[in-house]
Amino acid sequence: MVDFEIRLQEYCSLVEKELYNILNRKDSKKQVLFDAMNYSVGAGGKRIRPVLLLEFNRICGGDVRSALPFACAMEMIHTYSLIHDDLPCMDDDDMRRGKPSCHKAFGEANALLAGDALLNLAFETMLSSESNINSELKLKAAAVIGNFSGAEGMIGGQVIDLQNEGKEISEELLLTLYRDKTAALLRAASTAGVILAGGDQTKIEAADRFAEKIGLAFQIIDDILDCVGDASLLGKPIGSDEKNNKTTYVSFHGIEGAKADALRLTTEAVAALDAFEDKTFLTQLSDYLCTRKM
Ligand code: IPE
Ligand code: IPE
Ligand code: MG
Ligand code: MG
Ligand code: MG
Repeated sequence: MVDFEIRLQEYCSLVEKELYNILNRKDSKKQVLFDAMNYSVGAGGKRIRPVLLLEFNRICGGDVRSALPFACAMEMIHTYSLIHDDLPCMDDDDMRRGKPSCHKAFGEANALLAGDALLNLAFETMLSSESNINSELKLKAAAVIGNFSGAEGMIGGQVIDLQNEGKEISEELLLTLYRDKTAALLRAASTAGVILAGGDQTKIEAADRFAEKIGLAFQIIDDILDCVGDASLLGKPIGSDEKNNKTTYVSFHGIEGAKADALRLTTEAVAALDAFEDKTFLTQLSDYLCTRKM
């Protein structure tokens, strides 16, 4: 059995090297754009979405090199969502991944455009990748990622989030918004990993169930850390939700209730992994995400 930390580190370094290769471009006429893209992508982060894609791909018999462009694309889409999320017109946060947010370092217009460019580059990277995965599977995975990232998924969730600032919302609507703004990208990564390996519908659905539960737990823990986390570990400010008058899971259940529910959701997520023969790493990853401090 490969040690959990070793495999996690291997995935992260594969993804980071490839992202660097793709993004390290020189063009003096628009250097600020590449610098802003590189700045945010290269600043670190847990790389959870690419790790999910690569591991689901591996346990379904896929080849890591072929899946890598899709893993990098997931990180580009996620990073773009963070750049935009921090803008003054959204959460207005000044720190991200331990550094000044993209708009603080490069200005609002460049941050907006760096996000846009990352989104486009993600699809270019997926669809132009040369690998032995057949084109039909690549197209299917890219379409799934597009759907989960867009109006039906992450972007839709961000809209529900923003339009309910300062309002009392039902717990049902809160969970819908978490499913969209956060779980959607984890579902995209997990199901795309299975699809690219040629996994069957049962496995695609199991990966989806896992990621939905892990995604809800992930956002609940993000809310908890926004209240009681350590900004220097998190690399982003705490108190952002309160500042923006957001109703969060903690508003409904308190810190302890939220922790208990994140644990319950994680246990439910792990149960969905029974559809896979080798679930050791994903089980350990679930535990790592549930106890994270950053
Ligand atoms: C932060 O995501 C945004 C949420 C969906 C809560 P991550 O916690 O995965 O951020 P990074 O990639 O590690 O910086
Ligand atoms: C954002 O949720 C989820 C995204 C789609 C970026 P948050 O606004 O809570 O994420 P953080 O706390 O700023 O990372
Ligand atoms: Mg937000
Ligand atoms: Mg935010
Ligand atoms: Mg947050």
